[in-house]
Amino acid sequence: LNLIIVGPPGSGKGTLCENISRDFHVMHLSGGELLREEVAKKTPLGSEAFEYMKQGKLIPDETMVKLMLNKATEPAALQHGVLLDGFPRTLKQAQAITAAGLRVDAVIVLDVSDASLLERSAGRRVDPVTGEVYHLKFKPPPSQIVDRLVIRPDDTEEKQRFRMKIYKDQRDPLIVHFKDLVLTVNADQPIPKVYAEFLFLLKQRG
Ligand code: AP5
Ligand code: ZN
Repeated sequence: LNLIIVGPPGSGKGTLCENISRDFHVMHLSGGELLREEVAKKTPLGSEAFEYMKQGKLIPDETMVKLMLNKATEPAALQHGVLLDGFPRTLKQAQAITAAGLRVDAVIVLDVSDASLLERSAGRRVDPVTGEVYHLKFKPPPSQIVDRLVIRPDDTEEKQRFRMKIYKDQRDPLIVHFKDLVLTVNADQPIPKVYAEFLFLLKQRG
């Protein structure tokens, strides 16, 4: 199973992928996560990426395509299948996936209101030890780890609004590019319901 997950910042791409990879044993490749790992390791790619990420801007297409397609074509990924979380984000990236001949079974588009996106971003907390993503209201962390949780640097309201605008500017060409593969999920629902709707749509598609 190879899926692309498209959705605005804070729409729950990572959260949905966590559920899918657990049940389908596919590899979860998040562009943002891979970049944050590079930043943490202080690699040249990480330093380049950090300049863009801290402002909420997109990393140049070429860099992103190289990083993601390398991972998506590793033997383990080809064998088990992949979830491309937040990649592609531009038409150029989408064209690169198609040109590379990667089979795509479906493109999942998460639909969420702006008000929910702001609330989800504001309440998001990340556990630096496990990488687990929580939400103060919607996915409360266990009390014994609350003190060590961190806020992502791009989760200020200003940067979140900026990221939402970039998404709106880029989304339509992506959807046109993948046309018949697109399955739109109403992601303005509780986490288990979003997953259930995804499962239903995937099954219906056969
Ligand atoms: P990335 O990390 O991908 O950020 P994003 O797209 O802005 O998405 P988020 O990770 O913020 O949100 P999400 O949709 O995964 O939601 P989550 O599950 O965490 O990218 C970061 C940066 O890297 C980019 O800004 C860019 O600079 C760069 N980058 C990455 N990919 C790139 C690319 N392809 N090209 C160029 N640059 C790229 O959920 C959010 C919160 O809500 C959590 O707290 C969660 O617990 C909660 N939640 C989730 N689902 C629900 C629900 N159904 N109901 C209530 N709460 C929920
Ligand atoms: Zn994410």
